[in-house]
Amino acid sequence: MENDSLHILLFGATGTIGRATALACQNAGHRVSIITRHATTATELRGCIHHIGDVTNPDDLARIVGSARFDAVVSCLASRTGTPRDAWAIDHAAHSAILQAALAADIPRFVQLSAICVQKPKLEFQRAKLAFEAELQCAPIRWTIIRPTAFFKSLSGQINRVKSGKPFLVFGDGQLTRCRPISDRDLGQFIAASLTDPATNGQILPIGGPGPAISPMDQVTLMERILGHPIRVKHVPLWFMDTIIWVLSLLGRISPRLADQAHLARIGRYYATESMLVWDPISDTYCADQTPQFGRDTLEGYYIDFVAGKLSDDRGDHAVWS
Ligand SMILES: NC(=O)c1ccc[n+]([C@@H]2O[C@H](COP(=O)([O-])OP(=O)(O)OC[C@H]3O[C@@H](n4cnc5c(N)ncnc54)[C@H](OP(=O)(O)O)[C@@H]3O)[C@@H](O)[C@H]2O)c1
Repeated sequence: MENDSLHILLFGATGTIGRATALACQNAGHRVSIITRHATTATELRGCIHHIGDVTNPDDLARIVGSARFDAVVSCLASRTGTPRDAWAIDHAAHSAILQAALAADIPRFVQLSAICVQKPKLEFQRAKLAFEAELQCAPIRWTIIRPTAFFKSLSGQINRVKSGKPFLVFGDGQLTRCRPISDRDLGQFIAASLTDPATNGQILPIGGPGPAISPMDQVTLMERILGHPIRVKHVPLWFMDTIIWVLSLLGRISPRLADQAHLARIGRYYATESMLVWDPISDTYCADQTPQFGRDTLEGYYIDFVAGKLSDDRGDHAVWS
């Protein structure tokens, strides 16, 4: 293990995983400085040193990155909308600027939160993330890239639908995809642990939560067990989504707003058809066995708390279902 108490500069601290990472780093004994665009009252960030700044402004970055001697940058920063413009501005350009500022300030370590879906890039936000990953890998800095599977919040969007008597929507037979979801807390702890583990230097780390890989129909079974009654399931054919994408793409030629919506529909289709597991190029399949597991929190425990009203819907702009 490396020096155990570090001063971390955390980007994206107000996001779902940013908050969990801030807490995990503080619990691990690190000092955490954060840079956010607004004031925040998030409880996980109370013990942090807070800087307000614009991550797209090099002057703000130079001022904050040079304000102390940091041991590591951790970035959980990500486009909130996933539209191509925002993705290239945040997932790529802002990260490039952060990396340049970190190099100029001689910060020795950079931990980047990415996503497992970049292994099969079909969308602009994935290409933007990959472009930054490539820059980071070439930079004279010790780096780690963490590519998690699905988050619990991304698998909870239909609980309120189902509670209000609406059917659970699945694409095809509901077995097209699988994932090994990971909780915010477990992922935050994984990120914090990577900071002091030299074995993570220069590594791209796919990571999932504990337990078997699950499909959308497995989520239905889980919810039925928790709610104590059968759930209606509505099977949506993929051609229906393809038609929506086709129409929005056509209209998007005259309306930038509809072009963005076409892109968001393409993101929805991607997650309806691609598993969030490690892709094995030899067998040409997604492979649960090759997707590492970490942590203790289960999706079932999360659903129980969600149904009991102990959690709020944290999907924000990532929501696909309502
Ligand atoms: N959802 C999933 O299942 C999943 C799975 C695997 C990987 N991932 C990846 O994990 C990463 C983190 O996800 P998350 O859900 O924690 O993200 P999130 O909750 O959307 O948080 C995004 C963070 O980036 C900040 N940000 C966005 N645009 C900004 C801008 N223009 N200027 C300044 N700050 C900006 C946000 O600040 P504000 O609070 O000010 O908006 C927030 O702190 C993403 O890269 C995502 O692709 C997600």
